[in-house]
Amino acid sequence: MLTNDQLDKWDRENFFHPSTHLAQHARGESPNRIVTGGSGVYIEDRDGNKLLDAFAGLYCVNVGYGRTEISEAIAAQAKELAYYHAYVGHGTEASITLAKMVVERAPKNMSKVYFGLGGSDANETNIKLVWYYNNILGRPEKKKIISRWRGYHGSGLMTGSLTGLELFHKKFDLPLANVLHTEAPYYYRRPDLSMSEADFVAHCVSELEALIDREGADTIAAFIGEPALGTGGLVPPPAGYWPAIQKVLKKYDILLIADEVVTGFGRLGTMFGSDHYGMESDIITIAKGLTSAYAPLSGSIISDKVWKVLEDGTDEFGPIGHGWTYSAHPIGAAAGVANLQLIDKLGLVDNAGKTGAYFKKALKDALGDHANVGDIRGEGLLCAVEFVEDKADRKFFDPGKKIGYQLAGALLKQGVIGRAMPQGDIIGFAPPLCLTEAEADKIAAAAKAAVAEVL
Ligand SMILES: Cc1ncc(COP(=O)(O)O)c(C=O)c1O
Repeated sequence: MLTNDQLDKWDRENFFHPSTHLAQHARGESPNRIVTGGSGVYIEDRDGNKLLDAFAGLYCVNVGYGRTEISEAIAAQAKELAYYHAYVGHGTEASITLAKMVVERAPKNMSKVYFGLGGSDANETNIKLVWYYNNILGRPEKKKIISRWRGYHGSGLMTGSLTGLELFHKKFDLPLANVLHTEAPYYYRRPDLSMSEADFVAHCVSELEALIDREGADTIAAFIGEPALGTGGLVPPPAGYWPAIQKVLKKYDILLIADEVVTGFGRLGTMFGSDHYGMESDIITIAKGLTSAYAPLSGSIISDKVWKVLEDGTDEFGPIGHGWTYSAHPIGAAAGVANLQLIDKLGLVDNAGKTGAYFKKALKDALGDHANVGDIRGEGLLCAVEFVEDKADRKFFDPGKKIGYQLAGALLKQGVIGRAMPQGDIIGFAPPLCLTEAEADKIAAAAKAAVAEVL
């Protein structure tokens, strides 16, 4: 067996890691964790650490680690037929079954699902389909896409542009043309502290209307948003936000793409965030929770309304010129079927709602009184704690102090993985949906100890 030192050396010499400080990593200045196994909410590494993963990898291992029901389904599919493509009507029992299971679980107005590999490629698909849709309808000018600051939609060319976080644009010549950003529905960071939630929703709506007015509604094709903001800070929207936004979108005939890569399949305590917030989405992006990351698979769920136009388009122009070699990969599809069956069997959607409420309260009990804790928020098992220098004035820390990263490091010393979110001093929690109350208490106690150490 290779030694840890050998692997560390090879890693630093050969491996280009995503979202990593490349120079520090190459010089050996940043830590390197070699993960070996996992069970339930815990992972293990080669140094013998057992850590409670309160971020479920990248909020994706929703059923928890080590589920043999899924690994066995993957093995069986790999033995029977590891690959066949899905072009020109080809399928497998797994991909056809999964398509049916997804559409059955999706909001009622949904019609079909296209399968990709990850959240970014699914959103690329969505934008192409929206452009195609407007071309078929004879509206070639209606192409711009509105996203929100702090939204996260991937890191491809178009999806990295839609993402509203500086880190993903800086030095990459993004965002591309045709992408517009509007106000994030982030009540804690409202521009004026005296605003009520209702005032703030009205402000978000008027910012959106002003943008549409400036650009011209006949140039805007779609609005994309996560039902609850994810990477931008884990922020549930203020009450009434989605109905108010949707009203504007309908008025100007702008499609709504709900990016449910994080919220799909139970994280908020409902099967989809669109149901949770009463969104009538035209397209829904899914990935992570579709297979609980046991195999890569994503999807674009298409509404009846959009589907009808796509069908008409192929009658007019021939087969749709869009597809990936690995669309509906049988191994991903087999993982998806076993995963969705397990979510039902274990009642994980309900558990996310119930244990999520318990967990948020546990965080509030542990940290609510701390002078530097500005906001504790969450919906289901998507929770965050935001830290400030001065609570009364909502004065943020100097970003150079890297308080969020220090806190995540201190949390790790307590045996718990939380995530320092990239913009702000925010620690995010999105544990597997099988979390128990005892495990929730453990995370809250670790967070309290970490905050006591750093602040
Ligand atoms: C809401 C959302 N959309 C899209 C993506 C991109 O997914 P992927 O990293 O699989 O490309 C992510 C990833 O975190 C996400 O959170």
